[in-house]
Amino acid sequence: YGKIGIMGAMKEEIELLHRHADIKDSRSKAGIEYVEATLHGKQIVFCKSGVGKVNAAVCTQVLIDQGVDCVLFTGVAGALDPELEVGDIVISTSCVQHDMDVTPLGFPRGVIPFQDRSSDFTADPALIDMAVQAAKTLYPDHYRTGKVLSGDQFIASRDTVAFLREEMHGTCAEMEGAALAQVCAMNDVPYVVIRSMSDKADGGAPDSFEEFTVKAANRSYAMIEEMLRHM
Ligand code: ADE
Repeated sequence: YGKIGIMGAMKEEIELLHRHADIKDSRSKAGIEYVEATLHGKQIVFCKSGVGKVNAAVCTQVLIDQGVDCVLFTGVAGALDPELEVGDIVISTSCVQHDMDVTPLGFPRGVIPFQDRSSDFTADPALIDMAVQAAKTLYPDHYRTGKVLSGDQFIASRDTVAFLREEMHGTCAEMEGAALAQVCAMNDVPYVVIRSMSDKADGGAPDSFEEFTVKAANRSYAMIEEMLRHM
């Protein structure tokens, strides 16, 4: 990997990159700042996309246009798998937009109609492998690989968790991964999403998110840093 793109959505998610990376340069495009830096001898570009799928999609395309060879996402998510605890890590095997809903025309929920490409955007096997190795080093017994579900919704209800888990087979819910994944697929660029759980996407999610986002975001950053050592 010549140049590695790293995206977070919120300031908590990229703060430690600002603090630890050796910053060379930065430029703005569409209101997003892209920071060129080195970390553990690797050339990186990192940015704060802002929340949601549109921000993530634009940000991913701009990263790719800057010549990154892969895109890593670092951040927090709501757990859907009942075995996940706050702080645990999810490594994406694939990402789906759970709010893509063309069911009245007979398409399953999450399927983008009238396109040849699958709407279940698979993450890169080599990047998944590196993430799993990092998780085994840092958080053994506290990580999972699985499907990441993205939508422009903060999930905070047990009924929605049950639907996203049982009908859509999600491991965690967040608001950017599948947009990033789709843009990467459109450009044939490998990606993986790393998320640490800030909450369980239930009624307690708003309070839990408030309390644990910094801790979870820092764990996700630690995963990225550990991955970079071996890339
Ligand atoms: N990011 C962190 N927690 C989340 C949740 N419950 N729903 C959507 N995105 C999240």
